[in-house]
Amino acid sequence: MVPFHLEKGRKGTASDSTPMKDLVENRRRLPLGKKIKLATEVIRQNGIVWTGCLGGYYLASAVADRAFAAMDVLRKRNNLPGVNSASLNKLIWEAWDWQAQGEEWTPSPEWKQSVIDHILRKHMPAGGNLVEIGPGGGRWTDELRQIGAKLIAIDISEECLRVCEERFADCDNIEFVLTPGNELPGVADGSIDAIWSFDVFVHINRAEVEAYAAEFCRTLKSGGIGVLHHGTTGGASGGWRSNMTAESMIEVLNAAGLGIVDQFTSWTDGGHEQQAGLYEDAITVFKKP
Ligand SMILES: C[S@@+](CC[C@H](N)C(=O)[O-])C[C@H]1O[C@@H](n2cnc3c(N)ncnc32)[C@H](O)[C@@H]1O
Repeated sequence: MVPFHLEKGRKGTASDSTPMKDLVENRRRLPLGKKIKLATEVIRQNGIVWTGCLGGYYLASAVADRAFAAMDVLRKRNNLPGVNSASLNKLIWEAWDWQAQGEEWTPSPEWKQSVIDHILRKHMPAGGNLVEIGPGGGRWTDELRQIGAKLIAIDISEECLRVCEERFADCDNIEFVLTPGNELPGVADGSIDAIWSFDVFVHINRAEVEAYAAEFCRTLKSGGIGVLHHGTTGGASGGWRSNMTAESMIEVLNAAGLGIVDQFTSWTDGGHEQQAGLYEDAITVFKKP
């Protein structure tokens, strides 16, 4: 196996991104007398209604944290799919408003350009036969179709395919294919140079990832490359992530006969550190031997 590195990115959990939460933790450490004095002063300065809202906020954030932790425990104990089964993914992404074309997940134009320059263009061969899994509103499709001689865009959502067909109506090198969520239908054996999927495998559970890994092995040419963006913590870090971890992604790809080229959560571009995504997401690059 080719050596790889997993750089730990910023923590970015759902609770970390809630700035008021630290105040809740601090408040718990105050002795009762000081708490009463503080509450009295807050009411005196802000009135009972505003203070009631503040109390409601503290209570709701504590309940939300406990609910999230309980969901994680229940999901693991009872092997629940969360919102990441193929049928739920289909329902969710059929109903999504694609007006922003997926750019709502782009933190900055610089980040997107860095993904294109340092990851997409590095691994997607010019003039190759490419597959994109989960194009959504076409956020990466525009770049991929310019690089590849041919691009097969495969999605579980008919609405995504409709939106992309409309957006790329003038392009004659893209084929749009509907998948049940674990197959690359109609893609010929050993015909593909590279596979790209961003912000998709973060939502796909292990059973479907295993089926896809077998499909990667079937459809890639020898030496063909795949780039997958995915979660690393089994759904524990928020963002409605799949049950995959960084380690299980490697395990699943290796079990399908694919070698790991690299795995990372961040990269450096012009002195700036760029993150693969929120919630400790990673990017795994793999190769068919
Ligand atoms: C968050 S969107 C990302 C879209 C696009 N890749 C982007 O980065 O903007 C998730 C996409 O994955 C697709 N998807 C979800 N589960 C899938 C599955 N099992 N197989 C193929 N596509 C899937 C959705 O329909 C949607 O297009």
